[in-house]
Amino acid sequence: MPMSVHDPVAGTAETYRAFAGETQGRSPRYTELTLAVAEDRLVLGFLGTLPVAKRQPNLLFAAACYLLGAPATITTLRALVSDRAAELTDTMLTRRTQTNEPARCGTLLPALARLPQPLALLEVGASAGLTLLVDKYSYDYDGHVVTGTDSRAPVLRCQPRGPVPLPERVPEVAWRAGLDLNPLDVTDDDDVRWLECLVWPGEGDRAARLAAAIETARRQPPAVHRGDLLSDVPAVISQAPRDATLVIFHSAVLNYVSAPQRAEFARTVRDLGAVWLSNEAPGVLPGIPAADGARASSSSGTAPKRSRTRTRTAPGSTG
Ligand SMILES: C[S@@+](CC[C@H](N)C(=O)[O-])C[C@H]1O[C@@H](n2cnc3c(N)ncnc32)[C@H](O)[C@@H]1O
Repeated sequence: MPMSVHDPVAGTAETYRAFAGETQGRSPRYTELTLAVAEDRLVLGFLGTLPVAKRQPNLLFAAACYLLGAPATITTLRALVSDRAAELTDTMLTRRTQTNEPARCGTLLPALARLPQPLALLEVGASAGLTLLVDKYSYDYDGHVVTGTDSRAPVLRCQPRGPVPLPERVPEVAWRAGLDLNPLDVTDDDDVRWLECLVWPGEGDRAARLAAAIETARRQPPAVHRGDLLSDVPAVISQAPRDATLVIFHSAVLNYVSAPQRAEFARTVRDLGAVWLSNEAPGVLPGIPAADGARASSSSGTAPKRSRTRTRTAPGSTG
């Protein structure tokens, strides 16, 4: 039996070493930090005081950034653990990894634009609702430009691969709402700081894109309701206008719930008579294997079908 089964510190160290593989090539600073944590008894001991689900690198690094006002180094992280362990614990227990990546709209747009307009959009697992603003942003698909309805909103760049059906215009959104276990509020400075801290240092233009999307959302904040995707979808969609195409979509969410719960969610959505658009990592959705064929960026944009449209995950799938 592996040593980690008996030794929680060793198990956490293994988790951090594995996470370094995810940050590699994307955030050298977090690769260095992750590997340093994996060898650091002080930080590993601190993590051992938390519930297993709260020991994850993304959460630790975001919480440290939130308290320090800048991404941690191993030195500042060790000081935080030594001097402010209670605050760090509190932040990690009360906050969640809720990365909101507006660029994921680049993979949703081709499917949404092909549906009968106007649309009524429900996003489950919406975080702060930035991926609900799909019509506000503009897009540049390797030179194919689609202009959004908010001229001050960011331009999302996306590399289509294969025969992606690129639209001429953004969809018409008649109604939009989000659902999340813990909605983040774009008008709340603490929530915004948390969203910023979830972005890894050095990850290209993600931080600038997030800031621009938050400004867009602050001009007209999307409604994100508190609730669970397993039980609260019917209540929220009852508010949608009947003369619009109802779309239920989610992006980088289903890996947060167990496999049986994913299956239950899939059954519930199929029965609701809505268009269902799923932008999840390959294999996350039960009964739908990884797709081949047309892809946008690291994502695929397959044509929408009733209750069975899928796209692959977009940048920032690490939650
Ligand atoms: C990684 S974020 C993705 C946010 C957004 N969809 C995006 O693509 O940028 C996942 C979100 O799912 C939410 N979530 C996780 N489990 C949920 C559940 N059972 N019901 C509703 N929301 C949930 C989390 O709170 C979090 O805000």
